[in-house]
Amino acid sequence: MTNLRGRNIVLGVCGSIAAYKAADLASRLVKLEATVEALMTASAAKFITPLSLQSLTGRPVIGDMYDAGSETAEAHVAIARRADAIVIAPASASMLARLAHGFADDIIGLTVLASRAPVLIAPAMDNQMFEAAITQENVRTLRERGYAFVGPESGRLASGHTGTGRLSEPATIVEALRFLLGRRGDLVGRKVVVTAGGTREAIDPVRYIGNHSSGKMGYALAEAARDRGADVVLVSAPASLSVPYGVRRVAVQSTLQMRDAVVAETRECDALVMAAAPADFRVAEEAAQKIKRHGGEGLTLDLVENPDIIGGVSGDFVKVGFAAESQDLVENARAKIGTKGLDFIVANDITAGDAGFDADTNRVVIIDGEGPPRHLTLLPKYEVAQRILDRVAQLLEARDAASPAAQAAGAP
Ligand code: PMT
Repeated sequence: MTNLRGRNIVLGVCGSIAAYKAADLASRLVKLEATVEALMTASAAKFITPLSLQSLTGRPVIGDMYDAGSETAEAHVAIARRADAIVIAPASASMLARLAHGFADDIIGLTVLASRAPVLIAPAMDNQMFEAAITQENVRTLRERGYAFVGPESGRLASGHTGTGRLSEPATIVEALRFLLGRRGDLVGRKVVVTAGGTREAIDPVRYIGNHSSGKMGYALAEAARDRGADVVLVSAPASLSVPYGVRRVAVQSTLQMRDAVVAETRECDALVMAAAPADFRVAEEAAQKIKRHGGEGLTLDLVENPDIIGGVSGDFVKVGFAAESQDLVENARAKIGTKGLDFIVANDITAGDAGFDADTNRVVIIDGEGPPRHLTLLPKYEVAQRILDRVAQLLEARDAASPAAQAAGAP
């Protein structure tokens, strides 16, 4: 359940060979339970039929501003008013020009002008049209006025030329829209540092000590925090996952590198959530060359202990740890709250096949210092992340209310 659920999204489609991708975009938005109201310019209707968008969105498509359905003569204004966000994909060069100059002579320009909702523009056009000084000036003007952009991407264009002008993929546009909607979420203005994945401790240039963490839990946390408006930094051990749109990733390999990145990123932050599985040990001395076979003899590695990252960082931010346990889940996890100085801990049983390492779902227990543990049912990791962030948001609010500034403001 993302931040698109239940939102009214106006999808404006302009004339472009990329207009067919608007159907995919509409379908993705509907699957994420948004209500989609599609608007088309006259030239868009030459590339894709209104019926396609109507079938996918289950709502009438408006193309002619003088024939805005049968609701009322002011239906277009009503659409503008109830929009939670407007996305224009593809946006043509002439649409950029019209929007930059406040033209209201087509249904999209008019709706944008009549709305206070955030606007996301996904341009698509020939590369030379996009690079043209006047188009660039229009883009600058629109950015300065607070319009958000996604793309255009570089690659092979319909014209056969290669350059910047391709419409971003619908999946990327959806992510950008989620990012934009997050700007009105409850973590706006908060910096959240999330760690993810299993660190690798090099033995020699070829081998390393690692673990089964895929990074999925940490990446889900980063995505969910982004959807709630946080400024998210993802300190990630190697993981074959794509970085959520709008999230800054700091890539690390070893536990010492992860420690250094966490220390640097938490100098100024509001919350640290450590979902990573950092290796607790590293080899005392990494071999400079590949270790050869010993003709049947064994090999002994000397290991030294790595620092406890979360236990070693301090500051005025909410500290959340995870506990990967295979027995006595709640007792073992609760003990770590004290030893690691945490606000709360999320315990997961790593022996279950559908939870913990590499699973898409997780079954966790949220344990505060005091109070009964909160057992959550099996949920997608994104949903688990949301429940964790609910608690983070509560603690941040309580912290704000108790701050000297809030106390002084409340004083008679
Ligand atoms: O990545 P996935 O495949 O999605 O799997 C998710 C997960 C199972 C890895 C994740 O949900 C999880 O449980 N992460 C914590 C794993 C772990 O290291 O548990 P721990 O009980 O050993 O450590 C407790 C806490 O201290 C954790 O927050 C850990 O990040 C942190 N820690 C651990 C070791 C260390 N040297 N420094 C630390 O800060």
